[in-house]
Amino acid sequence: MGFVGRALEIANMVKICCIGAGYVGGPTMAVIALKCPSIEVVVVDISASRIAAWNGDQLPIYEPGLDDVVKQCRGKNLFFSTNVEVHVAEADIIFVSVNTPTKTRGLGAGKAADLTYWESAARMIADVSRSDKIVVEKSTVPVKTAEAIEKILTHNSKGVNYQILSNPEFLAEGTAIQDLFTPDRVLIGGRETPEGRRAVQTLKDVYAHWVPEDRILTTNLWSAELSKLAANAFLAQRISSVNAISALCEATGANVSEVAFAVGKDSRIGPKFLNASVGFGGSCFQKDILNLVYICECNGLPEVANYWRQVIKINDYQKSRFVNRVVSSMFNTVSGKKIAVLGFAFKKDTGDTRETPAIDVCKGLLGDKASISIYDPQVTEEQIRRDLAMNKFDWDHPAHLQPTSPAAVKQVSVTWDAYAAAKGAHGVCILTEWDEFRELDYQMIYDNMQKPAFVFDGRNVVDAEKLRAIGFIVYSIGKPLDSWLKDMPAIA
Ligand code: UDX
Ligand code: ADP
Repeated sequence: MGFVGRALEIANMVKICCIGAGYVGGPTMAVIALKCPSIEVVVVDISASRIAAWNGDQLPIYEPGLDDVVKQCRGKNLFFSTNVEVHVAEADIIFVSVNTPTKTRGLGAGKAADLTYWESAARMIADVSRSDKIVVEKSTVPVKTAEAIEKILTHNSKGVNYQILSNPEFLAEGTAIQDLFTPDRVLIGGRETPEGRRAVQTLKDVYAHWVPEDRILTTNLWSAELSKLAANAFLAQRISSVNAISALCEATGANVSEVAFAVGKDSRIGPKFLNASVGFGGSCFQKDILNLVYICECNGLPEVANYWRQVIKINDYQKSRFVNRVVSSMFNTVSGKKIAVLGFAFKKDTGDTRETPAIDVCKGLLGDKASISIYDPQVTEEQIRRDLAMNKFDWDHPAHLQPTSPAAVKQVSVTWDAYAAAKGAHGVCILTEWDEFRELDYQMIYDNMQKPAFVFDGRNVVDAEKLRAIGFIVYSIGKPLDSWLKDMPAIA
């Protein structure tokens, strides 16, 4: 192809710009760029350090397979930039994937989504746009956000036409690349007008580069927005259900793994997502359910709101039940005792700590005056200290807006190895299911601990019988209790 032909091809390229280079925006855009070589994708963010990291060797998020995808297309048709206005102005399709924290004050505090970042992104789009745009909601937002965004855009339109689409992301961290390569479904919601349908088709054409047609679902805007909240609520509900049963198993001598296996064999229920744990974490589940609760309340449906609120209550109960179990097993006090915490991320294969159950468990142990020593293969000491000093819901704001009070975390040390964390400890708590925790030399750990030595397995990763043979007193979530633990009931 000659120079002119190539120049024409570039000029006609569909241009995508994604506002927000986070856990959703970064991986999703990298995969779109990889699968659609004919599309130029620019990810923009106001955080210069985040963009620098996306352009460097150490990406700002840890996600298996992501490095490889980014390296294949960065500099070709995938770019990361802080030049937000320029790239928004040039784009045909703008994905918005900014943070949507839970409000901490004012109307709907503790439940409603704070749309400050979304609104400022929308106003900026309206300011700089000179050509028609498709604006795609990617970050989870409350139902009817599209309507609000549409109003901001059309009231400031200066003749530009906007089509708003809702295209919620269903990827899970740790498996994001796989989820994006072979999604169960892609959901696109849009207006039921000819222009709306055209916009839906344009986005559908992007995904059709690699997703089979029958997996691309199209709905109206509200259905798409609500489907995302409902899907996360259903998933979280499954975990709260199995966690509720885990408490009953401990009380009665049943084994939650056996119960979950038997229940999951029913093809109507299915085997996935039934692992009892110390509680679910992550940036979505709690936030989305709180959102759902708020929307139900606003629509005069208090019974429905209470039904979903209970999913979060059980999750909080599970975390405090775990702390109580630790404290009561150790003669009802952990004051001055060293407790090793293995795992701080909200699940394995991610360095993400947003809403991780480890925060509440550590705070609970610190509240009982324990001294804790934390090891996680992917979470930095700085992040752990920030998390333990942070107020509820503050994590979803930019770092410079998050308050810190380092005095609150004096009793915390962070190590770079599980053995150092457990050295001289009275107890070990496993809070993330990292594979390496299955392979540790527990004999060596036992030899270097105070006696009696305890293991509290919040993820059911260790072989409890093997550890008991070494001499440990072992607590595994939802499993029959050691006689030691039976004598020391823990009631949350
Ligand atoms: C979730 C949804 O799965 C995803 O579709 C959505 O887009 C975003 O929210 P994510 O938060 O990344 O994804 O992780 P997920 O795998 O869903 O795990 C959430 C939490 O539940 C983790 O803390 C995990 O450890 C916990 N969990 C999961 C359990 O305790 N038991 C299980 O059986 C499964
Ligand atoms: P998620 O998990 O949904 O991807 P993150 O918090 O990881 O959420 O990412 C959201 C990103 O959006 C952050 O990097 C933040 O700096 C960025 N952001 C927020 N508001 C704006 C804005 N108005 N313009 C550009 N980037 C923004």
